[in-house]
Amino acid sequence: MDIRSLSHLPDSELLALVAAANADARGIWTPSDEDLVELRQAAVAIDAEEDRVPVGFAVAGPSGTGEVWALQSLAVVPRMRRQGVGSALLAEVLAAATSAGAKELRTGVLDSRNVPALGFMARHGFEPRGVIKLRMRRPNLENLPPVELPAGYTLRHYRGGDEAVWMELFHRIFADDPRSGVPPMTLRDLRDEFLSSPNWKPERLWFALAPDGKPVGMAMAWMRMEDNQAVASLHWVGVLAAHRGRRLGEALSLACLHQHQRDGWPDCWLPTESFRISAVQTYERLGFSAVYSLADYARPI
Ligand SMILES: CC(C)(COP(=O)(O)OP(=O)(O)OC[C@H]1O[C@@H](n2cnc3c(N)ncnc32)[C@H](O)[C@@H]1OP(=O)(O)O)[C@@H](O)C(=O)NCCC(=O)NCCS
Repeated sequence: MDIRSLSHLPDSELLALVAAANADARGIWTPSDEDLVELRQAAVAIDAEEDRVPVGFAVAGPSGTGEVWALQSLAVVPRMRRQGVGSALLAEVLAAATSAGAKELRTGVLDSRNVPALGFMARHGFEPRGVIKLRMRRPNLENLPPVELPAGYTLRHYRGGDEAVWMELFHRIFADDPRSGVPPMTLRDLRDEFLSSPNWKPERLWFALAPDGKPVGMAMAWMRMEDNQAVASLHWVGVLAAHRGRRLGEALSLACLHQHQRDGWPDCWLPTESFRISAVQTYERLGFSAVYSLADYARPI
């Protein structure tokens, strides 16, 4: 097997190689014609060849200060996998990064359902870094328990004029945790994303009220895209810190699940992050389990 610079491959052959090697790789970014110039200019842009036929490629280079290198792409055509081609390409990347003084090599986001990629990364000492995103699913909306509330607390759905309440709860619950990566949400975003959506119904947004009538928690029965298909989703489930530990998150989630059931959805998904331990436990108690995760991976050099 030979390893050569990508510069000798004409654009059409490079695009064909990229498409063939990534064809079955779930969630992997595939460069288009416009990306080719940038791809060829990377510090490492190489292919592996068997009898002069390209069978795999790798693209990598410094990211930011240069101490960190990014593995932008690494793929092998399916018929040549499990024969050490990927490992040989990675060894070239590691050698170049080492001589450039890099200390760490990072991948982009990998989907845990991409079994070969995860196996390969584990074999080469990569571990998830940063926030691990989870996608959980309840496989049906049957046998939903009734909503139970701690003494004095009540639930109600959205009423006209609740925008400010919603905004304030949202910011107090979510925007205070730097790990959550929640986008800054303004009243305008709220109206554009939810209130003026054809999917909007007041019964799809629930608030928990404390014994004094003040809103202290929220959850949404919303929809999102999952593998290019619209699915029912549980969204923005949260309770103010002073009112946690009373299973209000569970009650709010259930109110949304009952709404999804009334709307005729067959199942329900939700996006969350692995560091939200009590939220994940709540979802598991409600019959959700993790279907897959999304994370960046990294290894020291
Ligand atoms: C990930 C990929 C590049 C691996 O290439 P490869 O040439 O098959 O890898 P290697 O033969 O060097 O495998 C090295 C080790 O990785 C692990 N591995 C590779 N494929 C695996 C799989 N399908 N399941 C579990 N472990 C796997 C094994 O430990 C393997 O060693 P072994 O064969 O002695 O058990 C290849 O599967 C691929 O191109 N996938 C599609 C593109 C992609 O997802 N790229 C993500 C990388 S950023």
